[in-house]
Amino acid sequence: MTKKEELLSKLDHKKLPQHIAIIMDGNGRWAKKRGLPRSAGHLAGVKTVRRIVRTSSNIGIKFLTVYAFSTENWKRPKNEVSIIMSLFKIYLKKEISTFNKNDVRLNVIGNIGDLSDGLRKIIDNALEKTSANRGLRFTLAINYGSREEIINAVKNIVNDVERGIISRDINENVISRYLYTSDLPDPDLLIRTSGEMRISNFLLWQLSYAEIWVTDTYWPDFEQTEYMKAILDYQNRQRRFGKHNG
Ligand code: FPP
Repeated sequence: MTKKEELLSKLDHKKLPQHIAIIMDGNGRWAKKRGLPRSAGHLAGVKTVRRIVRTSSNIGIKFLTVYAFSTENWKRPKNEVSIIMSLFKIYLKKEISTFNKNDVRLNVIGNIGDLSDGLRKIIDNALEKTSANRGLRFTLAINYGSREEIINAVKNIVNDVERGIISRDINENVISRYLYTSDLPDPDLLIRTSGEMRISNFLLWQLSYAEIWVTDTYWPDFEQTEYMKAILDYQNRQRRFGKHNG
């Protein structure tokens, strides 16, 4: 048995995390270590995205959400931002047939209105072409920031209260419904690569009770076996949702 098969056989398919969220970090450091430009790290990072989407789909994960570009990432050098945007375009055009073959339904969260017209069109097309798929729901967070998302939600709630569309009786469900993730369950497991112990403005509301798993591995090197280890580790934890252990 290979290591992968061994780990796979240990997975309890009845106790899989329903929703896995990932902060993909370390593309730049991966490239630097090899004396390559940062763009090479991002390109290698796309391969890992493909691999993890395929694996998630194969093992029966229902929701996968990855942090691809934050509202803060615009502060990177222009040239790097433009390379990442080009990678999104290429990926979202090329990947549609694979999504359809594997029954993967694409979803995008973030402030999409501020992206270029070209990228927005490509996103809309990919969303439409995969909308009938019923397997893995794969969400890309692009130009996403949790604080921006919450501000946006509050503005819309105030607006709807003022117009009498909803009552003033705001509760958790109301807030959840006004976030970009309104049709996704909260993540059960957050994975972060490349060692940093931070949430970095990612799904602040939604991650309230998620289990967190961090690895030192850079994103381009994140393999299926390590992904399985994260899921196995999650399966061995006891989730309490703030309740005591009794
Ligand atoms: C993190 O590494 C990577 C990003 C912020 C960009 C994410 C982009 C990709 C994974 C490629 C495109 C993805 C898709 C889905 C097409 P970093 O640059 O922050 O690395 P560093 O911290 O080592 O500098």
